[in-house]
Amino acid sequence: MSALLVDNIGELVTNGVGEGPLGIRRSAAVLIEEGRVAWVGPAAYAPAADRRIDAGGAAVLPGFVDSHAHLVFAGDRAAEFAARMAGEPYTGGGIRTTVGATRAATDEELRSTVRRLRGEALRQGTTTIEIKSGYGLNVADEARSLRIAAEFTEDTTFLGAHVVPAEYADRPDDYVGLVCGPMLAAAAPHAKWIDVFCERGAFDVDHARAILACGQAVGLGVRLHANQLGPGPGVRLGVELGAASVDHCTHLSDADVDALASTRIDCMCHEGQHTSTVATLLPGAEFSTRSPYPDARRLLDAGVTVALATDCNPGSSYTSSMPFCIALAVREMRMTPAEAVWAATAGGARALRRDDVGVLTPGARADLLVLDAPSYLHLAYRPGVPLIHQVIRNGVPQ
Ligand code: NIG
Ligand code: FE
Repeated sequence: MSALLVDNIGELVTNGVGEGPLGIRRSAAVLIEEGRVAWVGPAAYAPAADRRIDAGGAAVLPGFVDSHAHLVFAGDRAAEFAARMAGEPYTGGGIRTTVGATRAATDEELRSTVRRLRGEALRQGTTTIEIKSGYGLNVADEARSLRIAAEFTEDTTFLGAHVVPAEYADRPDDYVGLVCGPMLAAAAPHAKWIDVFCERGAFDVDHARAILACGQAVGLGVRLHANQLGPGPGVRLGVELGAASVDHCTHLSDADVDALASTRIDCMCHEGQHTSTVATLLPGAEFSTRSPYPDARRLLDAGVTVALATDCNPGSSYTSSMPFCIALAVREMRMTPAEAVWAATAGGARALRRDDVGVLTPGARADLLVLDAPSYLHLAYRPGVPLIHQVIRNGVPQ
């Protein structure tokens, strides 16, 4: 059995046992065997290994878990972005433009876009990514979007209820019937999760509840786009249905925050407690739509588990960079650097209900980032700087 030792780590973020909320260990080493973390401890006591990577005293942390990305699409919407920066509002109306381009694309074109963005994300430290459909919006194109997504990740999400496509504009009930019937049947074999854009102009709460219930009935886990563009019942619907995550959470009432906090449960985890419904914040969307950011502080102070994700998509947030989202969350959303790094790693894992990623403890998947910096703090302190020196995924240096 070949063992790899990552040695001479100045600051190791484990999200497990160690100093502070990030479980930090200093002068540490990590032993990797068969793609898993086999041992974590002081560098001075590191076991022998066949191969060794010298971290040179730098910081090492778990790979980022990006729990919300829309990578299966064709075309871009740079002109829409430029119009927004000149004062136009974001409404989500551009989704239909991307649907047209996606339907017209070949499988290989879609696959190469996913491959390109997946590679881009990996180079910026993302070792686990969720990928949604949602730009096909007919049976064949939703199914093929998920088939292609499944080539790249096990966390695939069926988002047939992204918007009502143009051909169903005057009969949304019929579209909901299509999503719950033949579309779900074609999508489910390739999907782990179901998602709905529950928002004025997309799907109302009754449609969203019906669609998510159909997905649950065939074994899909629930996640939801909610309260992005305005207040509404989406977050509370997510709590009602036991969603793993409600995403965006930009416009929240006290009742929404209370509902999320009410899902708090004790766990065997490092934090001792978390909320079974995570609030996933997507600051790239507020950045790219020039909108007010969600109030992360309010959620954290209420005891809600928070994740950070990119929302990578060609309309509202065309970034694949988790370090960028960390920097935004710290600067604009009143998160501390430690909270933001936790939310981008362990928080993302919670949002995907995974315990094998987002932590560096024995048994976890060996997904490690070696920074070109002495501390995780630099991810927020040095925004826009390529600090990801080396990525190890599944125990394999990339
Ligand atoms: O999460 N809000 C809905 N969906 C995406 C945006 C999709 C688009 O504009 O193409 C989001 O922001
Ligand atoms: Fe999204």
